[in-house]
Amino acid sequence: MAEKNLENIISLAKRRGFVYPGSEIYGGLAGTWDYGPLGAEMLHNVKDAWWKKFVSSREDMYGIASSIMMPETVWTASGHLEHFTDPLGSKKFNTMFKSKAGALKGETIDIYLRPELAQGMFVNFKNIIDSFHPKVPFGIAQIGRCFRNEISPRDFLFRVREFDLMEFEYFVKESDWEKNFEFWKKEIRNWIKEIGINEKNVHELEVSEKDRAHYSKRTVDFEYDFPFGRKELYGLAYRTDYDLKNHKLDYYDEDTKERFVPHVIEPTFGAGRTVLALLCEAYDEDELGGERRTVLRLNTKIAPIKVAVFPLLKNKPELVKKAREVYEMLKPEMSAMWDDNGNIGKRYRRQDEIGTPWCVTIDFDTLENDTVTIRDRDTGKQKRLDIKELACYLTERLK
Ligand code: GAP
Repeated sequence: MAEKNLENIISLAKRRGFVYPGSEIYGGLAGTWDYGPLGAEMLHNVKDAWWKKFVSSREDMYGIASSIMMPETVWTASGHLEHFTDPLGSKKFNTMFKSKAGALKGETIDIYLRPELAQGMFVNFKNIIDSFHPKVPFGIAQIGRCFRNEISPRDFLFRVREFDLMEFEYFVKESDWEKNFEFWKKEIRNWIKEIGINEKNVHELEVSEKDRAHYSKRTVDFEYDFPFGRKELYGLAYRTDYDLKNHKLDYYDEDTKERFVPHVIEPTFGAGRTVLALLCEAYDEDELGGERRTVLRLNTKIAPIKVAVFPLLKNKPELVKKAREVYEMLKPEMSAMWDDNGNIGKRYRRQDEIGTPWCVTIDFDTLENDTVTIRDRDTGKQKRLDIKELACYLTERLK
């Protein structure tokens, strides 16, 4: 049985360049983590898959990238100044980060770093309507960084003070909210499956009124069985017309000549929590060919490195030259890694540990007949392939 405890996962993440503690050489800053080359690639793959599924492949979704800093007026209207608080002793502590924009005394204005993306979508609601004339139902989506001054950040990437969110506001007629709520609930489930999380480890929780955010009339949390307990991974909220009304915005249907305030369904996905859930899900220890190994069974779409290329021996220039040719052929097509360190068994172990689905070895037969061995991460099985077919073979499997 794999020891899926958080310490093993944090240790692998640091050792292999997925995630490092923030500002570590100065003693660290609680609630901040830096993504290393493999983590950054993985985070990028998560965001890319999300954008493809929920934005670019949909006719009814408008993707934006709005500002992180927003003036106090936005947060007064959204209710965050009053309600975005956590209890601290007997007092309420507002978890938004406040700052000032401008340099001259008396000419500065109070701003806040956004704690959620949603307000960026609401303040651009009219812009999107004016530029694109969408018909209700439609959505506005974005991926971006959010900031919360969490009182006690903990559990690695789970509760941090700055994190990437992937979120959209879906605008519907009030009478259609339940239908749309159900639709997006299914789509969240589909997304979870598509990125390689076992559905059995995800549970829907109907959030009670007292635990719901100030804007929500119904919330379903998608909880994941993290090694430290069952905790929120994603959320789905019915925000009613709360935000648009507070921002004094509405919608005019040019066909029916009807003016109304759309209601909002909001699916929200923490990108860092997704990376954490995927690392927990993929982490495994098993025995292959009589040897113990640690393996990340990441979905090929999410794996940071798709293929590693090795010369069988690094002191044979003719093998190295041929292997470099193969590596340079693959590198522009997909994220490929060069490795000539240690024996082949060690290289396989290293790639298994970072979740690389395929390893390609260039050996003496390659010099004779232009074929290579390709080895599968999960089964350890190897087969020979013509170099000419290699790129095609891999891109087909990555689709
Ligand atoms: N706009 C709705 C909203 O922001 P939320 O439940 O407060 O809702 C959305 O946050 C998602 O952001 C959560 O489901 C979770 O994935 C992620 N998240 C929230 N706080 C976080 C934190 N401190 N660290 C990492 N991720 C967090």
